[in-house]
Amino acid sequence: MERELAIFGGEPIRTKPCPPWPVFDENMGNELLNTLRNGGFSELTGQRAEEFGTAFADKFGVKYGIPVSNGTSAIHLALIALGVNPGDEVLVPAHTFIGSATPILMQNAIPIFVDVDEDTYTMSPIDLERKITDKSKAIIVVHLNGNPADMDEIMRIANKYDLKVIEDCAQAHGAKYNGKYIGSIGHVGTFSFWEDKIMTTAGEGGMIVTDDSDVAEKVRVAKSHGEMEVKKGEERKYVHEFLGYNYRITEFQATYGLYELRELDKYVERRRENASYLTRYLSELKGLHPPKETVKGKHVFYKYIVKVDVEELGKDIDWIRNALKAEGIEVSRRYPLPLHLQPLFKEKNTYGNTSWPYSCVKKNYQYDVGLCPTAEKLGERLLTLLVHPTIDEEYLNDVVAAFEKVWEYILS
Ligand SMILES: Cc1ncc(COP(=O)(O)O)c(C=O)c1O
Repeated sequence: MERELAIFGGEPIRTKPCPPWPVFDENMGNELLNTLRNGGFSELTGQRAEEFGTAFADKFGVKYGIPVSNGTSAIHLALIALGVNPGDEVLVPAHTFIGSATPILMQNAIPIFVDVDEDTYTMSPIDLERKITDKSKAIIVVHLNGNPADMDEIMRIANKYDLKVIEDCAQAHGAKYNGKYIGSIGHVGTFSFWEDKIMTTAGEGGMIVTDDSDVAEKVRVAKSHGEMEVKKGEERKYVHEFLGYNYRITEFQATYGLYELRELDKYVERRRENASYLTRYLSELKGLHPPKETVKGKHVFYKYIVKVDVEELGKDIDWIRNALKAEGIEVSRRYPLPLHLQPLFKEKNTYGNTSWPYSCVKKNYQYDVGLCPTAEKLGERLLTLLVHPTIDEEYLNDVVAAFEKVWEYILS
């Protein structure tokens, strides 16, 4: 007999909460206390931020690692350091978190939205090449959900048109492409250490990696009020060379990051195990597509995204999400509104009522429905599930059971 769905008043599959993430490891406590006891809370006065940058760069096989305040400021700094000027066009996927694209406006450059691949949800190289113009300056490629984008094709196109590549790795710490860590393939890699990311620096934080010494130098200056770097122990001169910001990290955050970096491989493996467990069972369900790993990419599953054939199943995505949620599992929609249709871009709600930088350029940029059809379609089909390291088999079994129960109803 068909079981009554919790959304209609039946017994839910799960009543316990999902195991939390991130979790505080008691072993970390002493290291954090030491940093606080030693004084020097800012990276201008302490040592930990520099240590964190060096350790991160070593791990990822790049020359320079520069900790910054968050993943958005990391992208802004990358644009500054790569010489993106006001009015330049920067290509970015339409299906991603807003923080991938807002730094383009912060630099008074113009975001050009690129559609994504139907199966990997990362930037489509075909649409990328189609949208390049003589104003294009850089590409922000996003390794969304932990899945490496098609870097061979993207780098081929970037080299052909002489464009700089920023890899937005905010969701993909530890992911690899052709055996190389992502972030080390383009000109600059940027990371976020926000609260629930694969590794965190206690809530907020970011990192820039690069092999280019000029870029590294420019980032160091721009992240600290445009002030020429002062050697430790020397008096500050308060000379500011160009427009900079305060995008620094604290010593406390850097200490947290150093600890998390040592745990990263373990975190990634747990996520991959949890993901393959779900895939084993969920791939059996009609009209449901688990995430795909590409031949060249090692996916690290920041989130486990499933695609639902809503037409075939005859239910819209909100109904399915609500029915699963009622069964007691964590599930949410994934980027329902693509970036080009966000009021910020569509209505050009930028600086005050000026619409800068759009009002300063001759070209009329329009962000309408149909610009990135796959991103628009995916917004109505994707659901997010969790596979973070503290998730256990009991929770995974409940996820599978919730899907089976809801699917039994839908297909009956
Ligand atoms: C793909 C992507 N890019 C950029 C960012 C911005 O990072 P932050 O929140 O640290 O500024 C995020 C953060 O969630 C992200 O997921």
